[in-house]
Amino acid sequence: MTESTDFKTTLKAYQTRVDKALDHWLPKPDGPEAHLQEAMRYSVIGGGGKRVRPILVYAAGKAQGIPLDQLDSLACAVEIIHAYSLIHDDLPAMDDDDLRRGRPTCHKAYDEATAILAGDALQALAFDILARDAQMCCSDKTRIEMIHLLATASGSIGMAGGQAIDLAAVGKELSLEELENMHRLKTGALIRASVLLGAMCSEKTTAETLRKLDTYAHCVGLAFQIHDDILDVVADTETLGKPQGSDKAQNKPTYPSLLGLDGARQRALELHQQAIQALDIFTDSADTLRQLSAYIVEREH
Ligand code: IPE
Ligand code: IPE
Ligand code: MG
Ligand code: MG
Ligand code: MG
Repeated sequence: MTESTDFKTTLKAYQTRVDKALDHWLPKPDGPEAHLQEAMRYSVIGGGGKRVRPILVYAAGKAQGIPLDQLDSLACAVEIIHAYSLIHDDLPAMDDDDLRRGRPTCHKAYDEATAILAGDALQALAFDILARDAQMCCSDKTRIEMIHLLATASGSIGMAGGQAIDLAAVGKELSLEELENMHRLKTGALIRASVLLGAMCSEKTTAETLRKLDTYAHCVGLAFQIHDDILDVVADTETLGKPQGSDKAQNKPTYPSLLGLDGARQRALELHQQAIQALDIFTDSADTLRQLSAYIVEREH
């Protein structure tokens, strides 16, 4: 098998794995809450999500020799926070988008109030999973550190804070530093948490290893949002599964708007190279992380 076929097989295997685990953890629609629970399932399962964050959990865990079954709940928790962030990101009060993962957004398929509540309930579920999962072999102390890490990555100094900066920046011109800070929070924080959570699962992971993985995660997290901004300009709606040109229509400051398309591509490539360098202490156990970094800046959707 060539390296790229091998990588595609790994991606598919991790996607299938997390889909099964998500189906397990998401509540089965039942009773008077069924409508809300259906909206939660609709937004997490069955669309064209790439599952990049769970795949980062598995790949970071693999780099540390952690068995996959100990990573499943972490993979689910980060994807569920991500799905909640997408539901709210698409709401009329935020980006006001109608298409997500090739299907109507949650507030279009259901209604606005249900979409808000589905996001709320998904966020709570992510932490419930981390608190409850019996398969994770880590100590209670590590489990609490993991919950803290995911909470910080999701909150006002993480994703939600970045989203607030994003909304406040509409129609404004940000400096490169401000733009980078916004991207680091709104997208980078959860990607960073995904990588660190995967590695933290082993008590053998050293502070030095975590520091290297943190640098890797910082670089791929920022590169991910830069590439998302590039795709918003160059891709088409069908391939993206979400409306092309949404950033421009709403006058959002983005990397292409500040640096031009070539400048943005160049910056994403530099970050990919820095991400690879950060993995220099690892053996081929980190190859999936290396391939993911390349995938993040080359993907078509
Ligand atoms: C889109 O994330 C939102 C951003 C943080 C840029 P993804 O590109 O990972 O979306 P899915 O999960 O594959 O739909
Ligand atoms: C969203 O960024 C980041 C989130 C925290 C969801 P975007 O608004 O650019 O994401 P898309 O392009 O709608 O997926
Ligand atoms: Mg947005
Ligand atoms: Mg959006
Ligand atoms: Mg975008």
